[in-house]
Amino acid sequence: MVRTEVIVIGSGIAALKTVLEASDHKHVILITKSELRHSNSYLAQGGIAAALSDQDGVSLHKKDTLAAGQHHNKVKAVEKLVEGAPLAISELIQSGMQFDRSHDGRLMFGMEGAHSERRILHSHGDGTGKYMMEHLIECLKSSKVQVIENEAAVELIIGEDESCIGVKTLDRSGKLAFYHAEQTVLATGGCGSLYRFTSNSQTVSGDGIALAFKAGAKVRDMEFIQFHPTLLFVNNKAEGLISEAVRGDGALLVTEDGMPIMQDVHRLKDLAPRHIVAQTIFSYLQRGEKVFLDISMIKDFKKRFPTVSSLCERSGVDLQFGKIPVAPGNHFLMGGIEVDEWGRTSVPSLYAVGEVACTGVHGANRLASNSLLEGLVFGKILGDLLAHTPARELPKEKERSQCACHVASLPDLRALKEKLMNEAGIVRTEAGLIRLKNYLEAFHIENLLHLEVTGRSLAEITKANAIIVAWLIAESALTRTESRGGHYRSDYPSEDDSLWLGKSVILACQDVK
Ligand code: SIN
Repeated sequence: MVRTEVIVIGSGIAALKTVLEASDHKHVILITKSELRHSNSYLAQGGIAAALSDQDGVSLHKKDTLAAGQHHNKVKAVEKLVEGAPLAISELIQSGMQFDRSHDGRLMFGMEGAHSERRILHSHGDGTGKYMMEHLIECLKSSKVQVIENEAAVELIIGEDESCIGVKTLDRSGKLAFYHAEQTVLATGGCGSLYRFTSNSQTVSGDGIALAFKAGAKVRDMEFIQFHPTLLFVNNKAEGLISEAVRGDGALLVTEDGMPIMQDVHRLKDLAPRHIVAQTIFSYLQRGEKVFLDISMIKDFKKRFPTVSSLCERSGVDLQFGKIPVAPGNHFLMGGIEVDEWGRTSVPSLYAVGEVACTGVHGANRLASNSLLEGLVFGKILGDLLAHTPARELPKEKERSQCACHVASLPDLRALKEKLMNEAGIVRTEAGLIRLKNYLEAFHIENLLHLEVTGRSLAEITKANAIIVAWLIAESALTRTESRGGHYRSDYPSEDDSLWLGKSVILACQDVK
């Protein structure tokens, strides 16, 4: 058994920023189930938003974030985000991060949907996530953080005083390891890969949310899932992200015969909020029509968008024709483990940060390019809190009821992904959500919550966690009888402020019957 002061689970920007900040004062171990370069942050294209240009201001950034979130956001968290952005970016630049600049050395600002100013910093065109992560990985090398790759967190360890005292992990050979820590942080990302169409890394499967829920933490807003409008769509498969920055630079969504589809839908047309654009594309695809991004007006496309260009090339899409086939898919979870603005969950000494956490900052829909920013700003806040948290004695581990139940009958993950896409996807209905819930409950959620991890394979534990997270989405989406942001119910197509404004669906394990 290993004993340390702080454990952080995950390998995205929120995880790295938290460990870098905490490790000046604490012994920190970072554990990731894959490798440091496997994360959604690494895949992020568009960039990172910050009110840094002369004509911009934090109050405008705040206004745009609240409008995109359909005013479901926690205002205090939004203020922390937008006010923390300029400092977080300038610290990053001081530490050597290079953002794209014009010939006169000024920072270049890109445009994306629902922003009222150009405020998206980018690096190597559309390689922002990769280059920011490489920069942080470099910083990690000169820190004292101990990095453990290829070990998956499978259970949080809870003490007799109900605080979190560490984590059990499983490596690829099936060996279980125990890590005891004074403070434990989940930074495992959202749940995109549980859907058939996704922009996410296949490693992002909601396991941090399942672990926290099983350990007694509250989970909030799980119905709010952002479907990115433009994933590359080839042979009926979503092959990766086509950044919104492409539309920011003028590309238009069109039908096969070139008719623009966003003209009469929203005043911001192709740069309308993502849920509006995704729903519009979805309605065309449902009718059997194809939708394309017309990029013919963008000069030097390959130079401005090298990542998108090589993705298209690898998938056999010839950019010479100026058209990229697209479809929407799961991109980002606005909900997650309920935390306060410092990242504290409802379980003492357990924290969550980044996409896995729900601070309420994104409300019902995240503003483009606020996600890397969330990891950076809230990672810094949490890392600083952990650095200054007094040491504590660890209590004994609490005895917990474990279920040695049979899980061989758990479904193939492909079947689950298909069901989630169809029943809890871009357009939801009561009937579909009930079908999904019944399907999931047949696997006995209450048993999966107490699954004994000893002797299980990682594949079995991953499936059990996926079913728990899918159930949280279905239950929350069924409960919310309105449409708002990333949650669209065709049977309740409008926002219902009288019933739902400022209200969240919050679930805890005692809600599982
Ligand atoms: C994109 O480049 O379109 C994705 C950026 C984001 O989700 O914020």
